[in-house]
Amino acid sequence: MISDAHRLAAGALDMPNRLLLGAGPSNPNPRVMQALMGRTVGHLDPTFLRVMDDIREMLRYAWQTENEHTLLISGTGTAGMEAAVANAVEPGDVVVVAVAGYFGDRIAQMAARYGADVKRLEVAWGEAFPHETLAAAVETHRPAVLAVVHAETSTGVLQPLDGLGALCHANDCLLLVDSVTSFGGVPLLLDASGVDVAYSGSQKCMAAPSGVAPLTFSPRAMDKLARRKVPVRSWYLDYTLLSKYWGADRAYHHTAPINMVYAMRESLRIVCEEGLEARWARHRAAAEHLWEGLSDMGLECHVAPEFRVPSLTTVRVPEGVDARGVVRQLLDDHDIEISGGLGQLAGKVWRVGLMGYNARSETADRLLKALAKVLGR
Ligand SMILES: Cc1ncc(COP(=O)(O)O)c(C=O)c1O
Repeated sequence: MISDAHRLAAGALDMPNRLLLGAGPSNPNPRVMQALMGRTVGHLDPTFLRVMDDIREMLRYAWQTENEHTLLISGTGTAGMEAAVANAVEPGDVVVVAVAGYFGDRIAQMAARYGADVKRLEVAWGEAFPHETLAAAVETHRPAVLAVVHAETSTGVLQPLDGLGALCHANDCLLLVDSVTSFGGVPLLLDASGVDVAYSGSQKCMAAPSGVAPLTFSPRAMDKLARRKVPVRSWYLDYTLLSKYWGADRAYHHTAPINMVYAMRESLRIVCEEGLEARWARHRAAAEHLWEGLSDMGLECHVAPEFRVPSLTTVRVPEGVDARGVVRQLLDDHDIEISGGLGQLAGKVWRVGLMGYNARSETADRLLKALAKVLGR
């Protein structure tokens, strides 16, 4: 027998009450946590199948799409990204990836692993791609897929999608959009923008714990999927198999994370109750309140106002200030989590998320007050 020391090592769980204002997760809405505790049923129980249908319906509203093929992947945003790439890309496809930060780079790496001939476009971290740059790349490379990150969480930049759908469709190309940080918090109209493939996560503006990833395919994306010459390399993320569980067949594919699906259903219900426009306006108002407060304190945002993501703000670390020390002090002394910079912006910016339940001016005020104390301003 292994020693009892292992058996007795862990006491009862007692986690601190943090205000989560980093890049995600955000604090779940209490209603979502209540739903998470709902009675567990089997993954083929008729009542659970109805829960799945509710989710598909509400995802269509939240994304503003009529896409029949809309569901949840069991996994975090990265699983959503991998499902999008694995299904949309066939070995040998040319894929143009707009890399404006860490997550664009992750898409490029994934597409290469799935056999794509990846053409990377780059801009400075803190800028968006001008439409002309993306148009020139699509016209030059004639890709099968153009991938962009709508809200790049590493930089706080919102990539405008205007005209990209029309550009892609005129060039027989799919438009793939990462909406992990924008979904449910930032204006995004999938069908009107001509988006063919999109995915998101649950832990940001949706105010649920992490663990499920919305995914959707347009009819054009489904056409490409139907014409694949080789099967999707990932068995778990093969949409054709997954759709047999989420669609009419109801065939076992994997054991869905039942209670997380309840949580996501509640989070979508909250979006539907609030209304998308009101929700977008709430995120923007909270962000503008934060930006004003930061500026009053003499702090600078990293991104030009017209390209800022309301749900995620990058703040420049002033000369001589210990970026990590501030993050640590906010956590230790004020129970507030913010994130440090990622990749090229490590040590140069802090990242502040006002997402979902936390997107309110009072929450921004709590951070501004604590930050003023920590910085001695
Ligand atoms: C823009 C973007 N894409 C993808 C991801 C990956 O999501 P996850 O960490 O849930 O796997 C994140 C996570 O922060 C993100 O911000």
